[in-house]
Amino acid sequence: MKEKKQLSVSAIKNGTVIDHIPAQSLFKVIQILNLEHIRDQITFGANFESKKLGKKAIIKLSNQFFRDIDINKIALVAPQAKLNIIKDYEVVEKKVVEVPNEIIGIAKCMNPQCITNNEEIVTKFTVISKENVALKCHYCERITDQEHLVIL
Ligand code: CTP
Ligand code: ZN
Repeated sequence: MKEKKQLSVSAIKNGTVIDHIPAQSLFKVIQILNLEHIRDQITFGANFESKKLGKKAIIKLSNQFFRDIDINKIALVAPQAKLNIIKDYEVVEKKVVEVPNEIIGIAKCMNPQCITNNEEIVTKFTVISKENVALKCHYCERITDQEHLVIL
């Protein structure tokens, strides 16, 4: 077996492998995808060496197949994440995530005076930059940039 093919986390039979997650975003991805409610087997690995990311994390979800609209939500914290769809132990499809045009919920508006920080209102943003993530609040129009991004 070539070294490249040695798996630090076991292969799965069917499901989704989310690879190339920045190590520091692993728990945010878990939160965004609501993985705590999943009953099938989930395996995680964190702090693997990666040439591209320094340290990366990986999540393997048996029997889970996500809709693009749901998976794209993780682009906010893991823009280089790669999805591998596994059927009968084979990678049958690879997908990249894309930052959506609109973000509902998930992120917090950085304006403390914003209505969403003072009343029970779900946040809503228009994405004005996808490369380095800048979100314009639908309510107060303040721009929340990558540096100030807080995941709810
Ligand atoms: N994988 C898995 N179970 C399988 C097949 C693959 O968990 N039955 C995982 C691998 O461990 C890897 C990812 O799915 O993390 C992608 O597999 P593969 O395309 O074979 O690996 P690479 O060529 O290294 O992928 P890439 O360079 O695109 O990240
Ligand atoms: Zn706001």
